Amino acid sequence: MHQRPLLNVRSLSLSPSVVSSRAPTPRHSPMLPPASFGYPADKYDAPLQMQHQQQLQQPTICGMPLKYVSLVTLAVQNAALSIVMHYSRVSIPPALAYSPATAVLMNELLKGSISLVIALLRSPVLQQPPLTRRKYINTPLLWWTAFGDLCAEIFSPDCWKLSIPAILYVIQNSLQFVAISNLPVASFQVTYQMKILTTAAFSVVLLRKKLTSMKWLALFFLAIGVGIVQIQSSAGSGHTVHKSSSSTGVGSAHEFHVHIMNPLKGFGAVTAACFTSGLAGVYFEMVLKGSKADLWVRNVQLSLFSLIPALLPIIWASTPPNSQGFFMDLFRNFGAWAWATVAIQVFGGLVTAIVIKYSDNILKGFATSLSIVLSFLASVALFDFHLTPSFVVGASTVLCATWMYNQPS
Ligand code: C5P
Repeated sequence: MHQRPLLNVRSLSLSPSVVSSRAPTPRHSPMLPPASFGYPADKYDAPLQMQHQQQLQQPTICGMPLKYVSLVTLAVQNAALSIVMHYSRVSIPPALAYSPATAVLMNELLKGSISLVIALLRSPVLQQPPLTRRKYINTPLLWWTAFGDLCAEIFSPDCWKLSIPAILYVIQNSLQFVAISNLPVASFQVTYQMKILTTAAFSVVLLRKKLTSMKWLALFFLAIGVGIVQIQSSAGSGHTVHKSSSSTGVGSAHEFHVHIMNPLKGFGAVTAACFTSGLAGVYFEMVLKGSKADLWVRNVQLSLFSLIPALLPIIWASTPPNSQGFFMDLFRNFGAWAWATVAIQVFGGLVTAIVIKYSDNILKGFATSLSIVLSFLASVALFDFHLTPSFVVGASTVLCATWMYNQPS
């Protein structure tokens, strides 16, 4: 796990009266300026200074900067997620499919619980030196105090800011299921790179980032590359019926049943997911870097707000004819592959948050494009995916655009 950058204000200046007052205490560095709300134009300097301070305090893992470790981890996670999620949807006949809404809900519940535990363990009360801790009569009181402080932080007056990315991420996570069920893994991965375009656009508008003409050109090539892949994948197809034993360019499936894919629906879903990804990521970065709250506290807030939109489709879903009760229906057909999908998603959510905190959203986009290569190789080996010349041209254009975008100005 990464190190805490600096000792907390509270752990440096703790007096018994301060501790016993139980006032929620921010987990920010004493060197940071006070938080401003979001990124208003006239207060733009404060978040920039914070960002600068955060860059100076880059934590490491085994001597390697956490920033780069998390970016590479994210690339591998992205490739694994699309492969496992795709397999979990297409390898099973529709009648035996699990509910994506349950998967989205489980994702938020698990991510929120893990973030809550990490936030609690990082609590300033628990980080005090043993001598200072002695004033707590017993361990339960110490933990109870830490938990009370954490709750006060989670339900702070600005917690509502997380409701926007929370709703967007739930929509995105649901769209991902539609997209991956209707597109081959490799096409999904390449098209999903349009996230870079939307993220850059939202970064320019919301974070007022400046892009050089080289970067705009790279984004233009990215769009062209994605377009070429889309044209080849959806050429001549409305609904694509596919078996793994066949050798069409589109699709993958199980040997024992036919999985029907609708590339147009898949591309529609992936395009919408790119918009929510760009907007939610940039908004989360804005909230995270423009305020003093801890990353893990922000994650708990994000998951808490996600529970409402994640629960809605479950509550509204009609009861199946052979219903076995709410919980049994919720987890119907929820087998090992469904749990594997959720586990990889949870892991990815946590790594994404670290990447957004210690690097930025645009770099995140480039890390995930590394996963295209991994997905290609896995698709050829696992799903009998056939590379066509136009696919290679489109994917190479996306990779070149990615490289171009990443060049120093
Ligand atoms: O595709 P993209 O990188 O935008 O996906 C981000 C994923 O990370 C989403 O599934 C979202 O739910 C998750 N996430 C998270 N916690 C954050 C930020 C993102 O779980 N703080």
